Amino acid sequence: MIELEVPLGDRSYRVLVGAGARHRLKEVLPAGVQRVAVVTQESIPVTVDPGVEHRVFIIGEGEHGKDLGTVEDLCRDWAEWGLTRGDCVVAVGGGVVTDTAGFAAAIYHRGIPVVHVATTLLGQVDAAVGGKTGVNLPEGKNLVGAFWQPAAVICDTDVLATLPPREYRNGQGEMAKYAFLGVDRLADLPLEEAVAACVACKAEVVGADEREGGRRAILNYGHTLGHALETAGDYDLRHGEAVAIGLIYAAELALRLGRVDAARVAEHRRVVASYDLPMNLPSGSDPAELIALFARDKKAINGITFVLDGPNGVELVEVIDQAVLLAALEAIQ
Ligand code: GLY
Repeated sequence: MIELEVPLGDRSYRVLVGAGARHRLKEVLPAGVQRVAVVTQESIPVTVDPGVEHRVFIIGEGEHGKDLGTVEDLCRDWAEWGLTRGDCVVAVGGGVVTDTAGFAAAIYHRGIPVVHVATTLLGQVDAAVGGKTGVNLPEGKNLVGAFWQPAAVICDTDVLATLPPREYRNGQGEMAKYAFLGVDRLADLPLEEAVAACVACKAEVVGADEREGGRRAILNYGHTLGHALETAGDYDLRHGEAVAIGLIYAAELALRLGRVDAARVAEHRRVVASYDLPMNLPSGSDPAELIALFARDKKAINGITFVLDGPNGVELVEVIDQAVLLAALEAIQ
């Protein structure tokens, strides 16, 4: 078992990574918790025992269930049960569950503790760690949310064996990103160490910039095109698949802006291909629509903002030249 910490002063919390980690849930609950609201989905084949009185609350499947209606339903069900600030929410699932339950926990009674038990690879290396919670609007993904740090995170690598192959690859898309954020030889590490290395990288970034005043934006490497593809395709692509294409696009864009050389682009292609992830735009993608969606990205303030590799590593860069954006899209068609 590998134990890590997200360093946030008196809100620092533990992340347990390893086989069977879910059996240590009781140990990481905040002291004095009497009741636990377990939030999960019908399809999640993982049960947990918080060791105290608990009830299970089921939310809908898929990105379409991650909305304000679900948050209202959860809060009303918790209120009916009488959940208090002295109790705790335990979110058991992937990003949809931890984002939605985490946001409901952030606003219920102006905030009650939440522990995330991440059951997908994507949840373990990204969604469950770092305190970003939120839900979708019809206008776009994650447009409503709050920073609400969990009390602890559990990443049980045993449960990843139950994932359908496409869901596992979905997590690998998010994992591949860390290969360009300083995690060396990621693909060679055993699973537990690979997950822990990604969590350690994210924990360091979140500890330095919890609310994304600057540096935390690097965790969105590959996400500007990724989010645009997900929105344009009505979630036809899985998030990690969209991010994988976004990583290649970011490299092609950085090449055209003179920030990286062709060898670095080839390195992006090698890493993404090693996870058997897509590298090209889905057929039928409309470059003009994608560029319009770039401007609606949450990172965009004055113009179109990308996280790009370069001589100083990965950083936030404003890109104004539409011809360059278009040329890089043509390179991944
Ligand atoms: N998923 C990016 C972040 O947590 O900042």
